Amino acid sequence: MCGIVGYIGKRKAADFLLDGLSKLEYRGYDSAGIAVVEKDGLRVEKCMGRLDALRKKLKGREPVGTVGIGHTRWATHGRPSDSNAHPHSDPTGQFVVVHNGIIENYLTLKEDMLAKGEKFSSDTDTEVAAHLFATYYHGDMEDAVHRVLRTIKGSYSLVFLCKAEPDKIICTKKDNPLVVGLGEGENYIASDIPAIINSTRKTYIMNDGEIAVVTADGVRLTDLEGKSISKKIYEVNWNAEAAEKGGFEHFMLKEIYEQPKAIRETMRGRVEDNRIVFKELDWDREFLARFNKIFIVACGTAYHAGIVGKCYIEQLAGIPVEVDIASEFRYRRPLIDENTLTVLISQSGETSDTLAALREAKRLGSHTVGVTNVVGSAVGREADQVIYTYAGPEIAVASTKAYTTQILVMLMFGIYLGNLNGRLDSVLSEDLVKGLLEVPELIHRQVEDVDQIKVFARKYGSSEDAFFLGRGLDYAVALEGALKLKEISYIHAEAYAAGELKHGTLALIVQGVPVIVLATQEDIYDKTISNIQEVKAREASVIAIGFEGDTELGKYADHVIYIPRTGKYLAPLLSVLPLQLLAYYAALTRGSDVDKPRNLAKSVTVE
Ligand code: F6R
Repeated sequence: MCGIVGYIGKRKAADFLLDGLSKLEYRGYDSAGIAVVEKDGLRVEKCMGRLDALRKKLKGREPVGTVGIGHTRWATHGRPSDSNAHPHSDPTGQFVVVHNGIIENYLTLKEDMLAKGEKFSSDTDTEVAAHLFATYYHGDMEDAVHRVLRTIKGSYSLVFLCKAEPDKIICTKKDNPLVVGLGEGENYIASDIPAIINSTRKTYIMNDGEIAVVTADGVRLTDLEGKSISKKIYEVNWNAEAAEKGGFEHFMLKEIYEQPKAIRETMRGRVEDNRIVFKELDWDREFLARFNKIFIVACGTAYHAGIVGKCYIEQLAGIPVEVDIASEFRYRRPLIDENTLTVLISQSGETSDTLAALREAKRLGSHTVGVTNVVGSAVGREADQVIYTYAGPEIAVASTKAYTTQILVMLMFGIYLGNLNGRLDSVLSEDLVKGLLEVPELIHRQVEDVDQIKVFARKYGSSEDAFFLGRGLDYAVALEGALKLKEISYIHAEAYAAGELKHGTLALIVQGVPVIVLATQEDIYDKTISNIQEVKAREASVIAIGFEGDTELGKYADHVIYIPRTGKYLAPLLSVLPLQLLAYYAALTRGSDVDKPRNLAKSVTVE
């Protein structure tokens, strides 16, 4: 996700900002910029690309001012470009902001401003905040910031700088991280501790709705009404490397824990009055009626999300769906035409096979929709329409939070299509949307208590093989569970539709082989129980995953991992959690390099 740094003191701000931003590079970014208070006004310098490109741009003409803010951008609104890079200013250049997050009502605000003749130089939501800041400024920076916050809706860490009050920086946050660092005769702001840890360990970890007015000599904290508040200083006791991972041992674990936020961000702005809206698609019933078939095409984990998507779309919208592996699809002369909708799922948006499949689908006349996590990626640019997942950058090679946001998008897409073509019962539709809103909290509850999973990982971590079973949506999730386990722990793992095992693979089930069985689908629950009995009869060790309150599973399985009870369509969003954690802790037990498993790359840009 984007990175923020701020400095006010006696040193050259630009040096501090560039150094601080470099400590946030691990988060991923596509452009960078700084704004520094100079004698003749606020100087903004920014460009697309790495920090080195910005350093080059500044070479020999570095700003000398001692107050400034900086940003590394990870595109959400508008593709990566010089003009979309932060900081953003009002048209006079006297008011500057940097922002992480999403301003949900920016379009409405921007339309009003355009109607008044205001000019914009970027496609970002953030520029709207800079315009508001200028409009609301009448000699009191704090007051202007309060008014901005009363006007915007969404999630943000925001930092404000203004030419008329050059001796202060104001910052605030909602649903995005922000810290204020405390120094001697200087103070700092950052979206994450690594950016400032070389200068101080004394910080205020900002809470939602708190505002910090930061000067070189001190920090004053207020609430949104301007009332002063006092806050405990938090002493950081991590080293810089641990700080990058937010205190987690690995990026993968950090990303597993980030899933509630990733889900919230991906739903943001897409749920209105218990309905799903995809403004980026804006289809009507007639447009959807064009399609008699949907293809979902992807690789790896994204392909598994596609299999979940097939269940959702077929069951909620009644449209036939084929799911294909991109490397197969591109060469197998798929039977598609202008009446086929092709959905390409790709976290990175740069996977070579998926991109080739997208081009092939377009060549055959299909309408294409990309589902990607990276704005400005090739899939994002080339698909006819794009639905973004807002998981934030995923650094660990093993995909976790990207997968959950992909299946979330698939569920929302299924509901959207079912509402459009009238095939989805309105009560079920409303129940699903209400249920979705509860998912982040339910995931949060699950990751709070992982002791049992650690025990299983230790117990079965030395196994050579493992099997994952399930039926329907449980089978789709089992596929992802097996992939996670093999890619990071190197345990040979296979997933089977539970009813298929007896047609051959049952020969491999012997005493002590761990078999992980998902049992969340009520309509086929009894069948799954029979499959558990089948493998128990061969003395396998069964770990079942079922809902809290299930009193049956424990009678058949050796162990049960209980997940919060929810509906059958929402279950995949919760049942994948224990599988991700099991893979993670099994990999730890075996001492493998969790974030960079052997032979694998994060983005596969070769065929
Ligand atoms: C596994 C994993 C891979 C990717 C696959 C596609 O954990 O991450 O299987 O899902 O390489 O990548 P994207 O989604 O970037 O197209």
